[in-house]
Amino acid sequence: MGQHLVILSSAEAVEDLLLKRGAIYSDRPTLAMQQLSGWEYAYATLRYGERFRATRRLSGRVMNSRASRDYIPMQEQAMRRLLKMLLVTPERFEHHIKSAAGSIVLKLAYDYDTVDDHDPLVDLADRALEIFSVSSKPHWAVNLFPALRYLPHWFPGCGFLGQAAIWKKVVREMYKRPFEMAKKNMQTESGHDSMIAKMLEGDGESPSPDLEELVMLCVGSLYGGVSQTVSAGLSFLLAMTLYPDVQHRAQAEIEAITGGDRLPTYNDRERMPYVDALIQEVHRWNPVLPCGLPHFCSTEDVYRGFRIPSGSTVLANVWHITHDPKIYPEPFAFNPDRYLGDTVGSSVNPDPKGFIFGFSRRECPGRFVADASVWLMVATTLATFNIGMATDENGQPLVPDVKYSSGILRRVRRLHPLSFPCKIVPKSPRAAALVG
Ligand code: HEM
Repeated sequence: MGQHLVILSSAEAVEDLLLKRGAIYSDRPTLAMQQLSGWEYAYATLRYGERFRATRRLSGRVMNSRASRDYIPMQEQAMRRLLKMLLVTPERFEHHIKSAAGSIVLKLAYDYDTVDDHDPLVDLADRALEIFSVSSKPHWAVNLFPALRYLPHWFPGCGFLGQAAIWKKVVREMYKRPFEMAKKNMQTESGHDSMIAKMLEGDGESPSPDLEELVMLCVGSLYGGVSQTVSAGLSFLLAMTLYPDVQHRAQAEIEAITGGDRLPTYNDRERMPYVDALIQEVHRWNPVLPCGLPHFCSTEDVYRGFRIPSGSTVLANVWHITHDPKIYPEPFAFNPDRYLGDTVGSSVNPDPKGFIFGFSRRECPGRFVADASVWLMVATTLATFNIGMATDENGQPLVPDVKYSSGILRRVRRLHPLSFPCKIVPKSPRAAALVG
């Protein structure tokens, strides 16, 4: 409705605008129904301003590359649980990956230990995220005509206001319940490991109500990163099902380092360049957020003779960039080797992590945590399991389609009850024993 949409499909345009002119391209477009439903101050939807900068400072303190290394032992434990679950019910791989990714974020955020099925905080967070997703749909007239939000709730056609009020309570509960729990734990000797404690105790003074609210909203928004990690994990399994040669090479690299006597740990990462290259290729092959999250231009701009009005929504076409043959030759080949050898450091085959985690002042604040989770998931899974095609009743292989859902967040399309057909079996009794 009179909205301008600018899609940047070259790495150069993304760099020129989102990075070099980040000061005017780091705002976010807003959706009235989402705001009315309690998501107004979610990290990813915050307008670019003082509240955003304060949130960014808080998250930067606890999730920078140095701080994130402290979380690795906990992530290794979560991955060990993932392997155990894969051993017992491999066909529920999607559930297990989500469970592992969710447990990591809730442990970091609140020092909370989840239970595998129907954890009350996980269920609450999932419900709130569902509200986030539904309330952002264009079928809400108020998303197209934001002024409708100011009509009285009894006005004909204003049922959405009642719906939003109900949802707002759920979203508020999602923020408040774990926050209060973590705050209460701060009174105990062992209750200082959560992000909540680190943020509130940061400057040694007793926190103001404003800071408490800011911390609650910042930390409560992190669970959204779980879906991204799950999507990357599913793409990894799909790629392994389709490209057994790549899988075998990565497994050989892992085994050369561990001798097959132990699980790989994060300390092994530097000595496993092919595993890293495989992960880069998974990210490039099917970026989780193919157009990133929308940026919003806050001041009118001119680029290459085009006027970009203030208030334009600006998307980085990440999928197009990671499939541009000038940047990634033969972009449709799944080829981890492209990151190894002569082209390292050149403008050809750059590390796709430079694109898939977003840009400049809005770059994903959870990227170091996410990167370590994905590495551990890939390395430990390949150390213990073979991932291959499932077979039908006649023993014929079921070749999975590379089909993804549409929407902002792209994930392998679900074929109920499984995500996609694939078989995950222990490499050997010795490998299974590593899971413990
Ligand atoms: C493979 C996993 C992940 C990928 C690919 C990913 C990617 C992204 C991208 C593309 C953005 C938007 C950046 C932009 O607007 O330019 C983003 C934002 C964000 N991510 Fe991640 N993410 C992942 C995991 C996580 C995790 C685990 C967390 C939390 C621990 C997290 C927290 C956030 C937050 C809070 C934002 C909003 C930042 C803002 O609006 O300023 N992400 N992520």
